[in-house]
Amino acid sequence: MELVTTKELSVLWGISARRIAVLCEENRIKGALKKGKTWLIPKNVDKPYDERHKRITGTIEDYKKIESRYNVIYPDSPNATYTSLLNYSDDLNKPFQRWYRYKEGYSVELVEQLINEYCCKKKGVILDPFSGSGSTLLAAKEMGYSSVGFEVNPFSFFLAQCKLDTYDKELIDQFKKSYESILENAEKCEIEYKLPKLSISEKVFEKNIERYYMTICYLIDAEKSIDIKVKKLLKLGWLACLEPLSNYRKAGNGLKIKKYARPRILTIEDAKIMLLEQYQNIYIDLLKNKDFENINLINDSCMNMNKYLKNNSVDGIIFSPPYANCFDYTEIYKLELWFGGFVHEYADLKKLRCKSLHSHLNGNLNPEVESRSEFLSILVDKLSEKKLWDKKIPKMLKLYYDDMFNVIDQCYEALNINGFCSIVVGNSAYGGIVFPADLILAQYAESIGFKVDKIEIDRYIITSSQQYEITKDAGKYLRESVICLVKNK
Ligand SMILES: C[S@@+](CC[C@H](N)C(=O)[O-])C[C@H]1O[C@@H](n2cnc3c(N)ncnc32)[C@H](O)[C@@H]1O
Repeated sequence: MELVTTKELSVLWGISARRIAVLCEENRIKGALKKGKTWLIPKNVDKPYDERHKRITGTIEDYKKIESRYNVIYPDSPNATYTSLLNYSDDLNKPFQRWYRYKEGYSVELVEQLINEYCCKKKGVILDPFSGSGSTLLAAKEMGYSSVGFEVNPFSFFLAQCKLDTYDKELIDQFKKSYESILENAEKCEIEYKLPKLSISEKVFEKNIERYYMTICYLIDAEKSIDIKVKKLLKLGWLACLEPLSNYRKAGNGLKIKKYARPRILTIEDAKIMLLEQYQNIYIDLLKNKDFENINLINDSCMNMNKYLKNNSVDGIIFSPPYANCFDYTEIYKLELWFGGFVHEYADLKKLRCKSLHSHLNGNLNPEVESRSEFLSILVDKLSEKKLWDKKIPKMLKLYYDDMFNVIDQCYEALNINGFCSIVVGNSAYGGIVFPADLILAQYAESIGFKVDKIEIDRYIITSSQQYEITKDAGKYLRESVICLVKNK
């Protein structure tokens, strides 16, 4: 009788090695035996039938049945605690968070609340695999926890790095002197400048603003005697004013030309005031910055987390991944990426897109993956029969969930026993079919050994009346939730 490991069997069965280990522990695989820490299983043994997936056909009854397995807290329940904390807008006036309006971020208060509720230790390590603007790490720092973060987008990484660095008095003074001198000299300066190779570069600013804005950048780069951390802060303040000074605004999955009832006339003086206010806010917050060394921010995909993290080395994980809604962060942040010098050629942008989670249609959608969720497979099969605005959507969803399952696997490995993992996620809908990410991910996490403590729904996603009509009963599953998981064994 040939024996195989959980890893080898996972390829044959199309479910994760961790799930197979759980099935072995539950005595559900005939002939499985444990040697040390390794399970050995007869290669030809029958795959156990998964009771949880009995008669799933993708109807609204299935959503209800799956949801009924969990402790689901609705926004109007007296037990709802996170409602309104998912939104970054409350943080716009908060120290450090106001350095850049990262509208996909959540509030520092949400992170504090989750740590207080779930972290068993007063000191420990908090991980965020999708750190974005660094809200999780910032809250962890404020509370005295060490932290690790992964972020694939170099602009977001740069933003979080600036917010989390430590600055002594000398650096803070240097920063103030530098921005005051740059703003004073910029108007008088005559320089030659080149715009990035982005196709819309010429249309980003009105010409007077473009010249002034690019002169500031030139002067920042020309500051040879200042510390690199100060230079980065100057660049960040400058980048934070890019969108407000430009002719574009972030809207949905991309940029739209700003429209005004009356033509907007922006003067150099307006631009100067905007930059000065931005720099002054940074300066005021720097005076409150805490000396804290134990932050490890990594500019890499969280798909590679296991290369950096030891098993059982973190105490809590809090994150919000990109949602499966076709938003491409490299598209939304393309002005910052090009003007900030994080990409120089379209090939650089393409590489970034391929490294990001499969939440959009611009990455590499070629890989073939085995589905690890029967519920998801049924929904994707139903979707494949529909007429969609892009026929690659079913493939994107398969890859998105495969990425997310890999992230959950790696989170499980990285966590200590009794560690917690909180995922802020939004559900999405295509062709009238709702993909309930909160239920699909909770089900998967449970299958690999996590306890699903609760799913708290923060808000319902408001859709167009047309979308509302086609999603009908399933419409109430279009929502943003926090999935709270605990690793018990
Ligand atoms: C919803 S945002 C996170 C916001 C963050 N919680 C905050 O408060 O700022 C998701 C982030 O995941 C990043 N991302 C996408 N794919 C990634 C990957 N494979 N690895 C790491 N980060 C990724 C995006 O660039 C984006 O910044």
